[in-house]
Amino acid sequence: MNGERILELEGVDLTSMRSMVLRFPELLVAKKPDSRFLERARRTGESGIDGICLVGMGGSSIAGEICRGLLLDQSSVPILTVKNYSLPNAVGRKWAVVVVSYSGDTEETLSSFEDARSRRATIFVITTGGTLAKRAQSASMHVVPKGLQPRAALPLMYSAVHPTVEALSGLEATDLERVATTLRQQAQDWGARADSPSTLAEKLKDSIPLFIGWKHLVPIAYRAKCQINENAKTVAFHSELPEADHNEIEAAMSYGRHSVVPVFLRSCFEESAIRRRFDVTSEVLSGAGCESIHLRIRTDSLLEESLAMTHFLDMTSVDLAERLGVDPLRVDRIAHLKKELAADA
Ligand code: F6R
Repeated sequence: MNGERILELEGVDLTSMRSMVLRFPELLVAKKPDSRFLERARRTGESGIDGICLVGMGGSSIAGEICRGLLLDQSSVPILTVKNYSLPNAVGRKWAVVVVSYSGDTEETLSSFEDARSRRATIFVITTGGTLAKRAQSASMHVVPKGLQPRAALPLMYSAVHPTVEALSGLEATDLERVATTLRQQAQDWGARADSPSTLAEKLKDSIPLFIGWKHLVPIAYRAKCQINENAKTVAFHSELPEADHNEIEAAMSYGRHSVVPVFLRSCFEESAIRRRFDVTSEVLSGAGCESIHLRIRTDSLLEESLAMTHFLDMTSVDLAERLGVDPLRVDRIAHLKKELAADA
């Protein structure tokens, strides 16, 4: 853990995951990519690209997943996410590859970065430093402040990934200051809600949550699962509608036996067919003896909904960790695994 004072992270206690998560809205506006970086992305997009490939692992992959979920419908080119050592064959010279690694030292990400280089794709790097920063060109690198756990740095990385993808796709830039203001207001209201992060954590304490999302909330369901795994060190699953209605629903009879609690991430933007699907799915589960939780956040935009729900569920994972008596900050097994693999390399 890096204890140095970093201007952009003013007010964040780097020894506390709760503090990092509480400052989510501030981290979203702590450090914008500079105009040179975004201009390069805009010019790359205007020159005509075949697609955008977002590379990263774990906490550094989620910004790309959320961004893809939000911008895919509007983008004129395909957006891929890669969590692996190499890129799909289709990615070539006329692709933009956005490589995200908080540490800059993640094996799979470095390998995919080299793969993108060998294919002569246009590369954009978002990192705090490490080997990735040494290998990247400064004009195409956005450096984010060090000291956080990568998963807690999601808003820092998101605030670079989202405008980069917007610029590459020729979309109008979103005002993230406004989004941060909404997130702050939402968090202030948590205490007044019947279902605050702590009440949700209490309900999930003795069970296995199954987060179920639709469309832009599918990556949020995945993020919630990962945050419960990494922060609370306990089992969680994620799934998506409508697909789960064609397979997983048959497992509903066993949910009680395994203490599975479905948590539906509901959107204010559900089309009527989707709203009905959520409601009927919940009724079917109830008929199988399994009551679901429905989580809703009222906001004006898909982006605000995605990030406000992420913030809420990130805090739920911290609350759950505290209830289970584990330190949400430590990820000893991930660190051990990385060390072992590096020693073998
Ligand atoms: C740790 C965490 C991990 C890392 C992952 C990749 O907080 O969330 O999932 O994000 O191991 O490491 P980086 O982000 O440094 O590329």
